[in-house]
Amino acid sequence: METLNRLTLEFLSRPENIGLARLTMASFAAQLDFTLSELEELKVAVSEAVSNAVLHGYANQEGIVRIESTLYPDRIELLVEDHGQGIADIQQAREPAYTTSPDRMGLGFTFIESFMDRVEIKSQPGQGTSVWMSKSPEGKESEV
Ligand SMILES: Nc1ncnc2c1ncn2[C@@H]1O[C@H](COP(=O)(O)OP(=O)(O)OP(=O)(O)O)[C@@H](O)[C@H]1O
Ligand SMILES: [Mg+2]
Repeated sequence: METLNRLTLEFLSRPENIGLARLTMASFAAQLDFTLSELEELKVAVSEAVSNAVLHGYANQEGIVRIESTLYPDRIELLVEDHGQGIADIQQAREPAYTTSPDRMGLGFTFIESFMDRVEIKSQPGQGTSVWMSKSPEGKESEV
């Protein structure tokens, strides 16, 4: 399917950039006809993925977070990547309430999965993590 637009955002793993990524990706997504509540859902998914990169991937050390996003007529696709510590057991990490930080809820991946249509997580300990996700505006569910 034809590519409508493409955006790459690369930034240092600082907590201040979580809000920036969230707003930037929402304004980009708004080029498709998402409802306001779908844009809110996308914002949550982006900030959860970026927070994970900043807090867990780099554990507050300095590193680079990269978001690659493509708009197609029927969907937005986003890839959020870090080159931090990685995840040993992805299936376990995706379980609701699983967290390696006792002060957190362990719900980031659960929100991402419930708010996005498709989610694929890849990770290698010591190499980093990538979270690929896609979302279609209501009534435009992609065929693939
Ligand atoms: N980018 C990442 N790099 C390394 N580990 C990660 C990354 N993303 C997630 N994880 C691991 O997966 C676990 C589950 O992530 P999830 O976002 O679901 O919960 P959380 O971040 O612990 O809590 P919450 O998102 O509710 O604040 C994390 O505790 C962490 O161990
Ligand atoms: Mg999280």
